[in-house]
Amino acid sequence: MQIIRDIATLHRAVTALKQGGKSVALVPTMGALHDGHLSLVRMGRRVADHVVVSIFVNPTQFGPNEDYAAYPRDEARDAALLAQDGVGLLWAPDVGIMYPAGHSTHIEVAELGADYCGAARPGHFDGVATVVAKLFNQVRPDVAIFGEKDWQQLAIIRRMARDLDFALDILGAPIARDPDGLALSSRNAYLTQDQRAAATAFPGALKAAAAAIASGADVGESLAKAEAAIVAGGFDSVDYVALADANSLERLAACRAPARLLAAARIGKTRLIDNYPVG
Ligand code: PAF
Repeated sequence: MQIIRDIATLHRAVTALKQGGKSVALVPTMGALHDGHLSLVRMGRRVADHVVVSIFVNPTQFGPNEDYAAYPRDEARDAALLAQDGVGLLWAPDVGIMYPAGHSTHIEVAELGADYCGAARPGHFDGVATVVAKLFNQVRPDVAIFGEKDWQQLAIIRRMARDLDFALDILGAPIARDPDGLALSSRNAYLTQDQRAAATAFPGALKAAAAAIASGADVGESLAKAEAAIVAGGFDSVDYVALADANSLERLAACRAPARLLAAARIGKTRLIDNYPVG
């Protein structure tokens, strides 16, 4: 597997991959790869001839008091996993290549970025939209694949790609979960053993609320019950549990298809997000 760190070499390598009309799928990541990421790679292999993975821990999507410095980084381990999974090219620029001195352009997807994680993490989605637009321009893939665990992120990237006329398909991959239901996340590595055991309360409460709402229970009551169950299960606080239109992300007081239950909660220093389809 080629590991590339500068844009000129990347362009040459991607041009070579595309020779003979071959297609390229991009899987953007921040590294600390787990089976969820590898399921995106496998989807990439199903839909395209070549898979390019990017690893870049993007400073502009972390707030000043967030975990940018502590974010787990192990490129050698990640590269070995990707090589095993048949990835031909790893794009791993450093911060100075992604954001050269004087970099001053950013993208804001105003309508979809204000609520939920956008409210709890000001500037986060501007950082995501900007780096993803740059990754699209750098790699020029035919298709890009993102996990559905970050449902709001996926909706924002779809809207950004549509609004800015990026000529590529964007695919969402189903959430990969541990057997007890916890969604796989690089941030699960922060959990102590006790926190990890308690964390199962989060998907448990959301799954129960999604099922209750789908079978006609009152939305407000179901959301309140889920919040209470998450805190009773050992979480310190809940940022939000909300029923949303799956595409526009508009908050819904009553269920209508397509709906998604979206949530974020904090346990110790770790903030976890998750979501479930409703109905
Ligand atoms: O989901 C992630 O890991 C990141 O937000 C992404 C899409 C790679 C952008 O930095």
